[in-house]
Amino acid sequence: MAMAMRRPHLRLLLPLVLLAACLALASGTPWTRLKNRFRKHHVDFPQSPADFPDNYCEMMMLKRGIYGTFINTFIHAPMRSIQRVCSVGGIHISTGLRKSIFHFTVTTCRYDLQIDSYVEENYSRHIVIGCWNRLPVLYVE
Ligand SMILES: *[C@@H]1O[C@H](CO)[C@@H](O)[C@H](O)[C@H]1NC(C)=O
Repeated sequence: MAMAMRRPHLRLLLPLVLLAACLALASGTPWTRLKNRFRKHHVDFPQSPADFPDNYCEMMMLKRGIYGTFINTFIHAPMRSIQRVCSVGGIHISTGLRKSIFHFTVTTCRYDLQIDSYVEENYSRHIVIGCWNRLPVLYVE
């Protein structure tokens, strides 16, 4: 009787556990997914050469599938350097947000409605990013 009562729980639980494991394997943990999204949106290292002069932003925003985003920044540094901002390479500025100790080379792409395309600006600057589980998950423009 005791067995009969325990079994339904197991039958319910096992598929759920398997489903959770499959989902985790297929798409990773939420912070891994966000890290991959961060990489897609914000990391370009080494910097891709523009296909035409001054066409870097147009090219990249299309290539990364984020054309239409009003403002977006690409960081020209390896992911591991950016990731360090989440630990020893950055200082805490508010909940989850950290500012890099060192400067990073970045290109900011801003959509200009007047000319109906992106304009680019190069900077060497501190970056502010959001970290989760010591991974970069958000870029503060
Ligand atoms: C930004 O830097 C890239 C690569 O060094 C260069 O090709 C581009 O002309 C620069 N853009 C501006 C607006 O200075």
